[in-house]
Amino acid sequence: MDTALREKLESIHQQNVLRFYDQLNSESQKKLESQLRALDLDHIAELAETQVKEKAALPLPKNIEPAKAYPREADAQHRGLYHDAEKRGHELLRQGKIGAFLVAGGQGTRLGYDGPKGEYPVTPVKHKPLFQVFAEQLRAYGRDSGKSIPWYIMTSTVNDAPTRAFFKKHNYFGYSPGDIFFFEQGMMPAFSMNGEMLLGAKDSLALSPDGHGGSLSALNRSGALEDMRKRGVEHLSYFQVDNPLVHTIDPLFLGLHDLTGSEMSSKTIPKATALEKVGNFVIGDGKLQVIEYSDLPEQLALQTNSDGTLRFNAGSIAIHAVRRTFVERLNQSGRLELPWHRAEKKVPYIDENGKEVKPDKPNAVKLEQFVFDAIPLAKNPIVYTTDRAEEFSPVKNAEGVDSPATSKRDQTRRAARWLESAGIEIAKKNGEPDAEIEISPLFATSAPQLRTRKLPMQRVGSGEKTYIEG
Ligand code: UTP
Repeated sequence: MDTALREKLESIHQQNVLRFYDQLNSESQKKLESQLRALDLDHIAELAETQVKEKAALPLPKNIEPAKAYPREADAQHRGLYHDAEKRGHELLRQGKIGAFLVAGGQGTRLGYDGPKGEYPVTPVKHKPLFQVFAEQLRAYGRDSGKSIPWYIMTSTVNDAPTRAFFKKHNYFGYSPGDIFFFEQGMMPAFSMNGEMLLGAKDSLALSPDGHGGSLSALNRSGALEDMRKRGVEHLSYFQVDNPLVHTIDPLFLGLHDLTGSEMSSKTIPKATALEKVGNFVIGDGKLQVIEYSDLPEQLALQTNSDGTLRFNAGSIAIHAVRRTFVERLNQSGRLELPWHRAEKKVPYIDENGKEVKPDKPNAVKLEQFVFDAIPLAKNPIVYTTDRAEEFSPVKNAEGVDSPATSKRDQTRRAARWLESAGIEIAKKNGEPDAEIEISPLFATSAPQLRTRKLPMQRVGSGEKTYIEG
């Protein structure tokens, strides 16, 4: 080990990670060294003091007001703008100025699937994996605009190799491999409660992905931003791996983002309940931002307007449009200045005697950055309202809310609604579609597009499993 690294670790009181170093073979020594070199150790020292040893709560803004969102449908005031925005969105696509950005570096612990979450078979009839749903949508948009869409996919050290292998095995789901750019996000060590980095093995730190906010620095470090510059990509359409209903590309939203000069735009849905577990868009001390459900004071969350609707009703669903030049600016100083969110977790580790400990209560602090914390740093950020039934049904948990079962139900419901809007009759039971229905994104990416297609049936009968192929 070079003495400079050892001395650095000593100077920041993190030399314990080298406890077993001398017993390791040279390959293992190299592994641990390269993990340590990948970290900004001065930053680690600072975080250990300010975020780990201190239970630093993120300061809440003093004055919290509801955020104003663009409406879903254009009213008289917005008609002209929405018309121009949709046109602009299509133009951006035709000119190749839009890239798709999927963040898929999370660990998916709640779902408990053994492998990258994007492999999970999510659709109701064909059981297509999440990755395939997105690939087919993006292919459809590329086909319709006559210009393929570069697709940036963020993984983590843990799932990068299996993700790439899965795409390769499935022939990239028909995507051109040259238009997919995989890259890994950063990893953060877990800390003991007294601020020391934990070892997950004798030759490895206990590392986990640094949060979806880490995507904004990983884009820069990985060369993805450089790739965007080369291709002339100006905006990223950002989405997460767990929501098969997402419109990965939305010309109206992207056009609005561009025309309003917004550096980071977001989609919102009206919350299902006052305390629903989604972030809240608010104006905090004059700036648009997201406050997590767990941080928004309950007395504010419960407030209603005179018509009974929630005063803080704008839920965040992690769909954004991000300007490339904004990401470039965020990375200018060399360090992404987003806050760190602290969580106390159970993290298995190797103790000072070399024994593996599997704790039964939280023993460690994990730190993550969240992508929405970039919003207050953006110029002219906007929020646009979408519809839950149309665009949000994530797979987070193995059972119950936001599970594969609820997502399949919502996919069928949406497909049924699209078909009904085209005059197709759907068998119902207790008001619900009495069938399983799936529409390939290559057939239609929206209800209006579906209505332009020649449909292969007049009705969907009870108990049928209907797949409409593209
Ligand atoms: P979640 O907040 O649902 O976290 O991520 P998760 O790690 O996937 O799942 P749990 O909490 O362990 O069950 C929301 C989205 O952000 C991505 C995920 O892949 C998902 O698309 N994400 C999350 C990252 O890309 N990196 C991270 O470090 C965290």
